[in-house]
Amino acid sequence: MRGRHSIIAFGPPGAGKGTHAERLVRDFGLERIATGDILRAAVADDTPLGRQAKPYMEAGALVPDELVIPIVEARMRATPHERGFLFDGFPRTIAQATMLFEAAERVGAPVEKVIYLRTPQEVIVTRLTGRRICRRCGAVFNTETMPPKVAGVCDACGGELYQREDDTEATVLARLRVYEEQTADVMAFYRDRGLVVEIDGALPAEESYPMIAASLGAVS
Ligand code: AP5
Repeated sequence: MRGRHSIIAFGPPGAGKGTHAERLVRDFGLERIATGDILRAAVADDTPLGRQAKPYMEAGALVPDELVIPIVEARMRATPHERGFLFDGFPRTIAQATMLFEAAERVGAPVEKVIYLRTPQEVIVTRLTGRRICRRCGAVFNTETMPPKVAGVCDACGGELYQREDDTEATVLARLRVYEEQTADVMAFYRDRGLVVEIDGALPAEESYPMIAASLGAVS
């Protein structure tokens, strides 16, 4: 991949956006902007943004555009992006998609590809209720599909693994409803612009990642 681009990892909760984003950032030198991570950090630090976002996140609802869009705009302006950006969990509404399309052009890293990880609901529920994250280094595991060598302990740094508060079955189902009602339409925005690469998100990550990487290799 040559030049500067913005790539979007898109799909329902648990489709593997974060899992693939980590490798794409490493392999393609992109700067990752993950709105879920930004918002969770704000909640953990008890900032004004975190206090406003918390009830929405606990309910599995979208945090309002008025809060999310300015954060992403500021992050894009403040982050050096020699190769471009990888967006994970953003955009989720048409307002967010429109803002990103324009802002990415403005900073010289236009949206080139949207990696759509199409993933069925039954796969998602198993994945998300089994997700475990390292408190120390943020590495992501799964009790079913990517178990750590020792239960509850991070393979990478030995840190303690925890479960995200919104990964209970009831909240996962609420997040899926929100995705169907409010976010799935964003796909049409990108399909109209011919930017979508569709990948089977149910495949093991080691099988789907080479397809994703190959699709980006074609971006020049
Ligand atoms: P966010 O953090 O963005 O969560 P999400 O979209 O629900 O996505 P996830 O992080 O749950 O899933 P993922 O696709 O990244 O899957 P992962 O790779 O981790 O958002 C959380 C909340 O913040 C939202 O509900 C909302 O309130 C708010 N928010 C965030 N952005 C917002 C925005 N733009 N606007 C408004 N509100 C916003 O994988 C999941 C598990 O599966 C892991 O255990 C992993 O190991 C495993 N796994 C992954 N891929 C595979 C595979 N191929 N095979 C087997 N296992 C796999």
